[in-house]
This record gives sequence, structure tokens and C-alpha cells, in this order.
Amino acid sequence: MSEKRQEVYEQVGVAATCRGYDEYVRMFTLNGSLEGKSILDIAGGAASFTADCRSRGIDARAVDPRYGLDTEAVLADARQEIETSTDKIRAIAHRFDFSYYGNVDLHREGRLRSFARFAEDFTSPDKEERYIAGSLPALPFADGSFDLVLCSHFLFLYADQFGPEFHEQAVLEMIRLCRPGGEVRIYPLKSLQWEPYPHMEALFASIRKAGAAPFLAKSELPFIPGSSEMLVIQL
Ligand SMILES: C[S@@+](CC[C@H](N)C(=O)[O-])C[C@H]1O[C@@H](n2cnc3c(N)ncnc32)[C@H](O)[C@@H]1O
Repeated sequence: MSEKRQEVYEQVGVAATCRGYDEYVRMFTLNGSLEGKSILDIAGGAASFTADCRSRGIDARAVDPRYGLDTEAVLADARQEIETSTDKIRAIAHRFDFSYYGNVDLHREGRLRSFARFAEDFTSPDKEERYIAGSLPALPFADGSFDLVLCSHFLFLYADQFGPEFHEQAVLEMIRLCRPGGEVRIYPLKSLQWEPYPHMEALFASIRKAGAAPFLAKSELPFIPGSSEMLVIQL
């Protein structure tokens, strides 16, 4: 294995991480009010965004294949992932931009707080109203169900595990779920090897063909090297 290879974040399979509300606000620059909007968090994992929206009176739902698994297994896996990812990040901490998180330990503490909020919401009796089992590229929602469709740390991050056809179908599915006037936002645009998605031009063409307007916009969650843009798709 080359030295350069050892310096990237090694990952087998798709991990379930648990970012929180403030991380979502920053990565998707959700600066305006979200009240009155219907929001879908695709590949929600153990993120507390949906729970955090609920506590703020915002209508949000999350979809992830893991939500079809046993509750305890989902929680145990996500809790373990905090330690697994912390160890990996610590080993190459000098590669990350800690200007938001502070350091590896503060990053871990934030994840633990976010996980606790997710776990509380995910074990509530009405959790099935908000946490829906489903996998891209075919999600179990009617056309035009949402004003804002978000996808954090799944689509382009795992570009090497899914082909360009998957990415195209996944993005067209996100567009299908959005109401006219709504938006899709996807972050990051880099892979786990911190390389830009190589088929973005062809993807833009497919999005335009579907009648939507794609563009790159500033993202405000410093961490992944050189990852300061998100994909926005307006309908
Ligand atoms: C790295 S986590 C991101 C969790 C959360 N969005 C965050 O930012 O912390 C990636 C998630 O993608 C989910 N996932 C894997 N395959 C998927 C698919 N085909 N469609 C939707 N989600 C998928 C995994 O189960 C996992 O929870």
C-alpha cells in the first residue's frame, strides 16, 4: 500500500454516522427558516437532524435501508461507528480541517450528543412516522412529497462502491420526490479518497434533461480536505 493511500480515510461498506442539526445547517447552508417546509433526509443513518427538526417544530422525515433492521442493532451499530470512525480520524487527524470541530475529542463528543438525540427519537412509539426504511434509487414516497430533499455523506462519498448509473438514478429519484419550487441538496461531492466525483458533467446533463436546474454552491462545514461545495438542484 502506498504512503498516499494510507493517508486517506479507509472504509469498507457504508457506515452509519450521526451528524447533528448544526452540522446539517452548515453543510447545506440552511440559514433561512425551515418552518413550514416538508424535509426529507435521505441516508439519514443515525443523524439527529430529524429529531432536532421535530424538537423545533419542523416537519422532517428520514429514510435509510437500516431503518428496516432491529432497533437495537441500528443503535448498537451507530454507537460503535463513533468509536471506529474516531480511531480512523485520529490516525490521520492532520489531514482534516478542525476549524469547526476543534479537535478529534470534541468531534467525538458532538457525535455522542447527536447519537443520544437520535436514539431517544428512534425508540419513541411513533418513530415509524419519521424513520422510514428505503434505499436509493427507489424510495417509498409519492411524487412531489417534499419541499427540501437532503442527502448527507452518502451519494458521492461512496462513489467507488456505486456506479455512475446508480448516481444518476438516485439523483433523478430525489428530483421526483421534490415539489415544484423545491430543492435537492447533496453533500459532500468528494469521495472517501477526497477525489471529486468524475461524472458530474454527465450528471448535470441528465438533471437538466429532467427539467431541473443543477448548480454548485458553497457549503460551510469545514472538515474533509478541499470539500467546500454542495450540489443544489432547483425544481
Ligand atoms: C455515512 S452515513 C450518513 C448518515 C447521515 N446522513 C450523516 O450525515 O451522519 C450513510 C448512510 O447511507 C445509508 N445507505 C446505504 N445504502 C443506501 C441506499 N442505497 N439508499 C439510501 N441510503 C443508503 C447507510 O445505511 C448509512 O446509514
